[in-house]
Amino acid sequence: MTDWVYSEKVKDHFMNPRNVLVSEEDYDHDARGAVGNMICGDEMFVYLKVDRGKNVITDCKWRTFGCASAIASTSVLSEKVKGMSLDEAYNVSPRDIMAELGGLPEHKVHCSVLGDKALRAAINDYYERNGMADKIKREEARVICQCMNITDQEIENAVLEGARTYLEVQERTKLGTVCGQCKEEAVRLLKQYIKEHFA
Ligand code: FES
Repeated sequence: MTDWVYSEKVKDHFMNPRNVLVSEEDYDHDARGAVGNMICGDEMFVYLKVDRGKNVITDCKWRTFGCASAIASTSVLSEKVKGMSLDEAYNVSPRDIMAELGGLPEHKVHCSVLGDKALRAAINDYYERNGMADKIKREEARVICQCMNITDQEIENAVLEGARTYLEVQERTKLGTVCGQCKEEAVRLLKQYIKEHFA
């Protein structure tokens, strides 16, 4: 039998996820964010209720077709952000959630960022619906390798999936396999993402 590789807290939130949305129609939300796609089976939705006077999150619900890591991390996230201002919640990092979960297996870390990304999309949705477009922060991908059209987000995903060296990023993305001019920036980003997610 294979050992359960997750912490007790991950197990608890996976078996008893908090704040799961049953029906979107029955939940009168103020904002909604979605990331991922159904083809990969990792779609995530986050819904928020917001105190409009204070811009504070009063309730957070979610639903996903993701794995145990995505379910447990979003369950924890949904509890954590209740009572936070929108600005505070926007800055909750996957590392904060991972620390609360007692860690995740390295190859599952990339699943845990789904809830976090959907939350930020929901906060931006709230700003958009409420005439606060100036507060919207876009997380647009930047192309790092022009030859192979590989973005910074793809490098970050490679790191979250376990790549720790330039060659490992290259194996996963094919970055730098033509002219090689992107190597310096790719190595800089590789170090930055390792530090952000695993240091
Ligand atoms: S820019 Fe990356 S291989 Fe040319």
